[in-house]
Amino acid sequence: MTAVTIPGLEHAPTNHARLLAWVQEVAELTCPDEVVWADGSQGEWDRLTKKLVDAGTFVPLKKKPNSFWAASDPTDVARVEERTYICSVREEDSGPTNNWMDPSKMKAIMTELYRGCMRGRTMYVIPFCMGPLDAEKPMLGVEITDSEYVVVSMHIMTRMGTKALALFGEDADYVPALHSLGAPLEHGQQDVQWPCNETKYISHFPETREIWSFGSGYGGNALLGKKCYSLRIASVMARDEGWLAEHMLILKLTSPENKAYYIAAAFPSACGKTNLAMLEPTIPGWKVETLGDDIAWMRFGADGRLYAVNPENGFFGVAPGTDYHTNPNAMRTIAKGNSLFTNVALTDDGDIWWEGMGEPPAHLTSWKHQDWTPDSEELSSHPNSRYCTPIEQCDIKAPEWDDPNGVPISAIFFGGRRATTIPLVTESRDWQHGTYMGATLSSETTAAAVGKTGVVRRDPMAMLPFIGYNAGDYFQHWVDLGKRADADKLPKIFYVNWFRRGEDKRFLWPGFGENSRVLKWAIERIEGKAAAQETPIGYVPTAEDLDLEGLDASREDVEAALAFDADEWRAEIPLVEEWFAKIGEKVPTTLRDELAALKQRLG
Ligand code: GDP
Ligand code: PGA
Ligand code: MN
Repeated sequence: MTAVTIPGLEHAPTNHARLLAWVQEVAELTCPDEVVWADGSQGEWDRLTKKLVDAGTFVPLKKKPNSFWAASDPTDVARVEERTYICSVREEDSGPTNNWMDPSKMKAIMTELYRGCMRGRTMYVIPFCMGPLDAEKPMLGVEITDSEYVVVSMHIMTRMGTKALALFGEDADYVPALHSLGAPLEHGQQDVQWPCNETKYISHFPETREIWSFGSGYGGNALLGKKCYSLRIASVMARDEGWLAEHMLILKLTSPENKAYYIAAAFPSACGKTNLAMLEPTIPGWKVETLGDDIAWMRFGADGRLYAVNPENGFFGVAPGTDYHTNPNAMRTIAKGNSLFTNVALTDDGDIWWEGMGEPPAHLTSWKHQDWTPDSEELSSHPNSRYCTPIEQCDIKAPEWDDPNGVPISAIFFGGRRATTIPLVTESRDWQHGTYMGATLSSETTAAAVGKTGVVRRDPMAMLPFIGYNAGDYFQHWVDLGKRADADKLPKIFYVNWFRRGEDKRFLWPGFGENSRVLKWAIERIEGKAAAQETPIGYVPTAEDLDLEGLDASREDVEAALAFDADEWRAEIPLVEEWFAKIGEKVPTTLRDELAALKQRLG
């Protein structure tokens, strides 16, 4: 049998037999014009960004060095949860919250979609490492893609190329992640600005630790190291190996007494992780540094504490709403350049603009490539438009952000977007109660996923779209981990809501930098210094218990943001019962007991 020869296939920079065989197999199936191994070099970045500019996908920004504007196909702007599958061997292991298909059936369908799908394009092989390269066991992956946009985005978001490939040796374990835009080019056919396919599949094979993605170029669907590997596949690894892969930011908070604490926080997509991670405190003497804005891998250390590592290397942040008042650190980070902007607006002088960034210029090119003026009815930027920028150039990155040992977590925050019911902050009584808070977390849907926005749904631990197995088993895993460590070494769990609204629909709490007041209260609770009221739902501060010095909000609003309303909570109970009924018999007994106790306390 003679192997097909595709330029680039013969000189692979590795002797890793399994990887070589997979690359060969994919190339033969997808039929690219050539195969290129990504090395992660500056030269590669320059070559590919130029290629994207020539193709019309990128516009170089005059006002930001080494930065580019891109506008996607209007149908390819967010994660597609309806098309995202967990293809475990048994349907039960995927559970009632995931889409499931038999793995061999999914592979058969997708193999036909992949056949010849890279014709006329280059197939890139991207070796990458999630988390520090010097980890005891580096977490390796290889993404094969036919998208230059994906390659350059992976340059920012992951440790990739030659330095990652060096860790593969001849037989290291890695997660194979196959991606195609599904837009082959006939000979001489002119490419479009944003190639993609109407048919989309984002498939995960948890037992074999594989990812197959087809048809989308959007971040969460196409940068497979992010949600696909670091949450869906990693959550399965974490279940098997006794750790946690969570949708959490990691921040370092230093008190005026110079004591440092690490906090992890899980909020659903577009509910404030990136902003909290980079917060600029409004209270004097307190300092925040950032370690990560989206994903935390947490393992118990020898001392019994939970240590967190950020597997990523960049920020993929929601653009609208970001400005020097809300998130100055993000603005300073992107101002340094070396960044990609997708689906925001382009100014006439070659900069970017989006809703929430101060006064709009008189004229813009909208994300839909249309003329835009402040009188236009449509938004200039898609609500899920994004900036993609390296952590390395963030002024407030904590020096230990890429320490392979991670940082010991003192507090975990769960939070969501709720106009009613959920107080600004509630402290759980213990780990089990905190797990109940996480498991019953609810939030209004946002533009980060395709579908209707503003609909309240349960989003357990902000992981609904990211748990790679049965949600009931996932809850049990949280309960079990809480039994492994001494109670006083476990992080304290809090439930927050920056998004409660008054009767006139405005936010009751000013949020952003002012959230430092809530961080301070949480730390003082841990230190045993701050007061709180015991309520049926946990410990809630009164306005007196929070440091409100200099806060620009009325006392009534703060009290309304903090209010525990028994009627609202009684109305929540049937929704939690419905949610537990959906999960079924796998809901841990402990969580059923928590619900029963809450019901009793509410009377
Ligand atoms: P992520 O997707 O969880 O990282 O969320 P982001 O931090 O990117 O925030 C998503 C959206 O929520 C942005 O438009 C932010 O401006 C907005 N946001 C973030 N934090 C707050 C807050 O404390 N209060 C309010 N009102 N909005 C916020
Ligand atoms: P995020 O996720 O909104 O949680 O930052 C990015 C995504 O939806 O792909
Ligand atoms: Mn984010």
